Amino acid sequence: MRILVTGGTGYIGSHTVLTLLEAGHDVVVVDNLVNSSPEALRRVGELAGREAAFVEADITDEAALDAAFSDHSPEAVIHFAGLKAVGESVGIPLDYYHNNVAGTISLLRSMDRHAVRTIVFSSSATVYGEHNPTPYVEKMEIGAMNPYGRTKEQIEDILSDLGASDPRWRIALLRYFNPVGAHPSGRIGEDPQGIPNNLVPFIAQVAVGRREKLMVFGGDYDTPDGTCLRDYIHVVDLAEGHVAALNYLTDHEGVHRWNLGSGTGTSVLEMHAAFEKAVGSPIPYEIAPRRPGDLPAFWADPSAALADLGWSTVRTVEQMCEDHWRWQKNNPMGYAPS
Ligand code: NAD
Ligand code: WQD
Repeated sequence: MRILVTGGTGYIGSHTVLTLLEAGHDVVVVDNLVNSSPEALRRVGELAGREAAFVEADITDEAALDAAFSDHSPEAVIHFAGLKAVGESVGIPLDYYHNNVAGTISLLRSMDRHAVRTIVFSSSATVYGEHNPTPYVEKMEIGAMNPYGRTKEQIEDILSDLGASDPRWRIALLRYFNPVGAHPSGRIGEDPQGIPNNLVPFIAQVAVGRREKLMVFGGDYDTPDGTCLRDYIHVVDLAEGHVAALNYLTDHEGVHRWNLGSGTGTSVLEMHAAFEKAVGSPIPYEIAPRRPGDLPAFWADPSAALADLGWSTVRTVEQMCEDHWRWQKNNPMGYAPS
């Protein structure tokens, strides 16, 4: 197939573009580079042995999207483009709603005009909010806790309404748990700008000497070691989940929701220890106060993805840390020339 990937130069997007190229698909990436580098796509081309086309454009720009659909004639879309920092979304909610929600509406209108009605969307486990018991199951009532999460929830609603309005739409809502790791080549990986918000990129930057120590947010939760439990998923497993969802949509209409997670919780201290093992030397840390808004523990029930898509995670926490570390060690400053 020929697939248009929004946000395809970003962290999850670049790994998915590589997986798509390797599976024989043709790819056109649309990205405005607000949080990524074109170097990622150059390296993806090197690894795959063939290039994805690239259009530098903002998804809120419908004319630019129309041109990309006319020029490249994709048959389906994988939609990663979005802003994703929870804390930032609290301070600038309008930017988040405009970029994520209005951007998605522009994309869907452009798709409809070009009769492209198959879309795989990057949703998040964050839509389950604070009232659901773990493990999370797709049929649970959702209710996000911050503006970023509410953009995901609203987009899910928009896509559900769209699917109900016209049976020609084929829609996959993929709720990712905590993506970490990197391609095993060490050539592509996560390259956060500024201070990393997420645990594993922060640990990796301490390990490589860019930060002094990890602050563990809260050591007094009601969990086995007092730190929060999350469901970490290797980014290559996640990328493969997108290909599985796309394959499913080739012979299923309608709106479908799947958790993409491993089904296992790992604590902050367990993740820190696994990363130390990958690095082979101690990584300084300190227990700090809890981070507002953090939930003590959640993980996926991934059985629907296994039943419907034949997909489940195969890569371990050890592999996540080894691969993430190889990327960080070989690219201490990410994609920026060092
Ligand atoms: P990322 O920031 O690395 O990638 C997002 C990409 O979208 C970037 O390349 C950015 O430049 C691009 N982009 C943003 N706004 C755009 C716009 N208006 N027009 C065109 N391009 C735009 O993030 P990621 O971690 O790869 O996440 C990809 C998607 O998955 C996001 O939608 C994110 O919300 C979602 N998600 C991420 C996580 C996670 O922990 N990384 C978890 C759940 C869901
Ligand atoms: C994991 C654990 C922290 C950093 C976030 C978003 C969510 C989704 C995935 C997009 C928590 C602890 C972290 C640090 C720490 N993104 N931690 N020190 O919060 O589960 O999810 O990313 O959809 O929406 O909220 O992931 O990696 O930030 O945190 O102790 O420096 O690590 O408190 O317990 P989180 P995370």
